Parts: sequence; structure tokens; C-alpha cells
Amino acid sequence: MSRSAHPAGPRHADVLTEGHYSAPAADLNVLDEKVWSRTVTRDADGALTVGGITVARLAEEFGTPAYFLDESDFRARCRAWSEAFGPDADVFYAGKAFLSRAVVRWLKEEGLNLDVCSGGELTTALDAGMPAERIAFHGNNKTVAEIERAVEAGIGRIVLDSFQEIVRVAHIAQRHGVRQRVQIRVTVGVEAHTHEFIATAHEDQKFGIALADGQAAEAVRRALSLDGLDLIGVHSHIGSQIFDMAGFEVSARRVVQLLAEIRDEHGVELPEIDLGGGLGIAYTSEDDPREPHEIAKALSDIVTRECESAKLRTPRISVEPGRAIVGPTAFTLYEVGTIKPLEGLRTYVSVDGGMSDNIRTALYDAEYSVALVSRTSDAEPMLVRVVGKHCESGDIVVKDAFLPADLAPGDLIAVPATGAYCRSMASNYNHALRPPVVAVRDGEARAIVRRETEEDLLRLDVG
Ligand code: LLP
Repeated sequence: MSRSAHPAGPRHADVLTEGHYSAPAADLNVLDEKVWSRTVTRDADGALTVGGITVARLAEEFGTPAYFLDESDFRARCRAWSEAFGPDADVFYAGKAFLSRAVVRWLKEEGLNLDVCSGGELTTALDAGMPAERIAFHGNNKTVAEIERAVEAGIGRIVLDSFQEIVRVAHIAQRHGVRQRVQIRVTVGVEAHTHEFIATAHEDQKFGIALADGQAAEAVRRALSLDGLDLIGVHSHIGSQIFDMAGFEVSARRVVQLLAEIRDEHGVELPEIDLGGGLGIAYTSEDDPREPHEIAKALSDIVTRECESAKLRTPRISVEPGRAIVGPTAFTLYEVGTIKPLEGLRTYVSVDGGMSDNIRTALYDAEYSVALVSRTSDAEPMLVRVVGKHCESGDIVVKDAFLPADLAPGDLIAVPATGAYCRSMASNYNHALRPPVVAVRDGEARAIVRRETEEDLLRLDVG
């Protein structure tokens, strides 16, 4: 079945209530390939299939709500990133977007490296066999125990985030008789055009060491003076869900300037720079993300140009995409429970999950698409708000969207692009059981993270 434009939801609730919003022109049955993973299509009966399996079969076997992850799409995106950046750069998948042992194995097989930001992520990575030297460790407050474990494991790099941490890591490395490879995370002062809670390179926030007032240069001085540290480069991450390359370019330019200052002061040319993650994906038809090869070209052009003008050797670049790899590869499948039309406003469609499996709408005002996937329908479009089953009116999954007016309890609906920061930020609010993540590939589906059970809840509740 062909896939073309899926109707975008209306953007503002106030517009809706004033009645200015008209129904979508596009056919609600048509799936926009921008927001769905690559093997998603509709079969002859109109049911959505992924990896060749229909949602009805998936729901029967794994229940709802559940996340279905298109494994071949995930692997293809890993390859696209590593091919785009080529052998002279390193791609680190940001595990915070979604991590499991299966994912670690796929990354390893596809030649990617991994960025972790907690002891739990590090354990998962090592347990699944990711070589320690391919792991980078991030975080603004790594515990001593976490640093110990990372150093003992022989981790590839630790990204230092504060003056205290410079000393902490140096001492721990010395105690273990090693020189730990480290980078220093700098805040480059870029205002990324994204939600305030996911922008990270402006100065008034908790991450990194500021470039502007000479703090970063001082951090470099200290790191270079400590025997336990092998300073290999500088790191910058400006934020998340960013479409505009301009912020990355400013960031790259400032990081290269710092390398030139380090060369001038210390006579050392640091061999690496890391430009972080943060590339946006399409959640609705209105989003237009850049392709990995465009991003790679833009970044390497700017770094090469800046290095030429500063007469520096071009450093090895690394990047840390999380969302851009896993985000588009999964959708969340829900069963429709109750349907409540509110005269003159909209229809509330309640599903069997909610803010416990997708907090992003409540937390960041994130926009999502939604489609009826257990069948097609020729009914008129109906303006809906898809909500969860939690005891909170902010428990919204999709704020404004259209679904067919004959939607009924028992129908399956799916929200695409939920691969990143949904399962990884899921909670047990209201003692909800966190949904499974099911990998689907070539006609086969298997849970890579199983559904939580009530026994799991009771096991933690030790009375
Ligand atoms: N590198 C560093 C140092 C990071 O802090 C992050 C994300 C990434 C890479 C990966 O960023 P990505 O490519 O996935 O955008 N929970 C928020 C996103 C928080 C991102 C935190 N750091 C959300 O749901 O939008």
C-alpha cells in the first residue's frame, strides 16, 4: 500500500476551541513514511504491519500497550550514520534514548560505539558484550562507585563535567595505576532552538564547563597537569530535537577555537572533538529532519575549514545520536478503551497506557501523530485528544489529532516515533506495569524487554 502524507494535527488548542480549525485534507488511512519506521505498511485488509506482522497478531501475542521496534530499520539507521561519518569519525549511540542488551548487540554488530550516563547503562552495555574501549561515560554527577567501575572496566573515555570530577577521576585512575582517557565537556553558549528542558549549551544550566569566562581553559590546564588523565579532546552537546544546523556549526567553531588556544598555551594539539547528539526526528508530518549524510558533511566542512584557518590538524570527530537512530524505529500500540465526545470541543479517546509509557507530551509539550491501525475506515475525520488512564488531566499522549469518527472501543491505534525517551523514561505511576519492547524483523517478533508484571511490583515492595 502506498504511503504518503499523514494529516498533521492542529497545533494549538485555542485555535480549535474557536472553531477555526478545519478537517485534514489527506486520507487518514494513508501512513506518512516520515513518521513511521521503514517496514511499516498496511496489508490488503488495511491492518498495519511491521516487519511483515500485523498489529492484530502482535497485540494478541504481546498485549497492549507495547512498543514495537523495527529491528532492520534500527540497524539501517546505525549503518547510515556510520557510513555518513566514515572511518575518520566515531558514532556513539546515546543509550539514554533506549538501551537494552539486544540493542547493545545490534550496535556492536553494526560497528557503533556507545555512550552511557549511569552505572545501570554501563552494566547493561558490558553485560551484553560491548567492548569497554568502545564506551564513553557521561553525566554531571557520576558517583565515585560509577567512576571506579568505569575505570576498572577500561572504559574508552570519561567525559568530565566539573572541576571536582577532574580531580575525582584523576585520583581513581591513579589508584588503579592507569591514565584514563578523558574529554572535557564545555558549554559553548549556544541557544539551541528547542524546548528549554532539553537545551544544554546555554550557560545557565547544570551541564559542562563554560567556555565564555575562561573556565574551560582552566579545566584544560588542570586536566593536563594530572598524571591520571589522558586528555584526548573537548566535548560539546547543545541540546536535543534540533533541526537547525546553525547551532552545531557555532558549537563546532567555538570548540575548534578552544583547541587552537590550547595549542597556543600548552603546545598540545588535542586529537579529538565530540559534537554530541541532538538531531531532530519527525514526530509529525510537519517536521523535516536532516539526513545523516547532510549532518556529517555540514559538521566536517565546518571543522575542516576552522582548523585550516587556525592552522590546526583536523581532529577526529565523534557524534552521539540517540533519538535520530532509535526514535523513528518504534511505535506504541494501544487499545482504545473509552471514547468521550465533548460537544463543541473535541473527543477524548482513552487508551490503556498514557503518561507512564510516554511522558514527553506532558513534560515537553511534545507533538505526536496517531493512526487507527487495526483497520482502515472511510468515516469522516474526528478531532481527538488521545489520553491515558492515569489520574491526572495532564495525562495526554497526543494533544490534537484526527481519527475516523467510527472509532470504537477495542480498535487498535498506534503512535509512531516513540523509540526514543519513551520506554527509557517510563514510570510505574498509578502502579502501571511498564510495557514490553518487542523487536520485529522479517516476520519474527520477540520481546527484548518483557512487560512488567504485578509480581515485579510486589517484589520491590518489601513491606
Ligand atoms: N550526548 C549527550 C551528552 C546527551 O546529553 C544527549 C542527550 C545525547 C548525546 C543524545 O541526544 P539525542 O541525539 O538523543 O537528542 N528526554 C528528552 C531528551 C533528553 C536528552 C538528554 N541528552 C526528550 O525526550 O526529548
